[in-house]
Amino acid sequence: MKILNVVGARPNFMKMAPLVHCLQQRGIPQKLVHTGQHYDANMSKVFFDDLGMPAPDVYLGVGSGSHAEQTAKIMVEFEKILGSDRPDLVVVVGDVNSTLACSVVSAKLCVPVAHVEAGLRSFDPSMPEEVNRIVTDRLAEILLTPSPDGDEHLKNEGVPSSRIHRVGNIMIDSLVANLKKAEASGVLADLSLEPRRYAVVTLHRPSNVDDPGTLLRVMRVLHEIATELPIVFICHPRTAARLKELEGYESVSAGGDLRVLPPLGYLDFLRLYSQSRLVLTDSGGLQEETTYLGIHCVTIRENTERPITLTQGTNTLVGTDADKILAAARPALDGEPACGSVPELWDGRTAPRIVDVFESWWSRRSGA
Ligand code: UD1
Repeated sequence: MKILNVVGARPNFMKMAPLVHCLQQRGIPQKLVHTGQHYDANMSKVFFDDLGMPAPDVYLGVGSGSHAEQTAKIMVEFEKILGSDRPDLVVVVGDVNSTLACSVVSAKLCVPVAHVEAGLRSFDPSMPEEVNRIVTDRLAEILLTPSPDGDEHLKNEGVPSSRIHRVGNIMIDSLVANLKKAEASGVLADLSLEPRRYAVVTLHRPSNVDDPGTLLRVMRVLHEIATELPIVFICHPRTAARLKELEGYESVSAGGDLRVLPPLGYLDFLRLYSQSRLVLTDSGGLQEETTYLGIHCVTIRENTERPITLTQGTNTLVGTDADKILAAARPALDGEPACGSVPELWDGRTAPRIVDVFESWWSRRSGA
């Protein structure tokens, strides 16, 4: 069995690293393609270094663009790779444009696709990731889900049960493997922060940062929160560009201890959020990571494709209403502990379960 793994954007790297390591351990031949959707060193290379991933065998260098441009460029370049190097299985992770593009190309060339993090649904068609998830899951032959809601969605969409494998949350494998290592990070000392005495913010969804009115409203309430608890805002390049041009930002940015900083590597960021008292975010991954660590999370979005973090974890979904954001942050600001439990199979052993699935799929397919 020859496997071709695909990564493209920041949230892919921590999902792929455990799988690459596990395939290596089992001696299964594999190659890694990086589409280059994310290309800045602090959005890409630092993750390869921190996560101990081998350099990609192939780098497509597609870069940024509109959704159509980016997806099309990845498809054109990835088709050349599949033409010259036919794997038995293409593995895609998550829900970014690279996930979609490489799934479509593989399906058209009749190369089976495995999707890690299958079945998640926000039921919000305006979210580009939702389109990517639906199409990828429709085309994939092996669907690897992190939680029971994923299984349910796929079954409701007519996917045969035999293709659905609940394996748990692979991103938690990276978290578990690196939590101890991250203790060596000097990020807290560098920023003069004390454990549990600060909040972490990330925001990058177009729905939050591309509309100036929404961004200004959210920034105003974050500065209000920062009068009670210092905030470090780890800022995606898209958001940094929007903040620079945000009219009226000077009038709200005077209040509170809120620092806007460029993206961090995996280990520094893990150290930073794992020691925080509160996370405010629109990231999918952080909703899960805070649930695993039992840290308060306020999700600044109208919906989530990770509802188990609400029902079982420490996440609260609030949208962009200032009063709701403040009310959801209140328990953390008052020092109350977060309540929640870790979902089943979020145990750091998802990658070996995935490779088990691949091995039994291959032995059925090859008639071994
Ligand atoms: C992408 C994913 C999103 C994921 C996010 C994590 C899609 C549709 N979206 O969104 O699901 O949560 O990654 O970061 O795939 N840029 C840089 N340097 C980089 C990469 C991007 O400056 O290395 C800037 C560029 O201005 C670019 C913009 O960020 O136009 C957006 O990048 P893009 O990959 O299109 O989408 P993200 O917003 O990062």
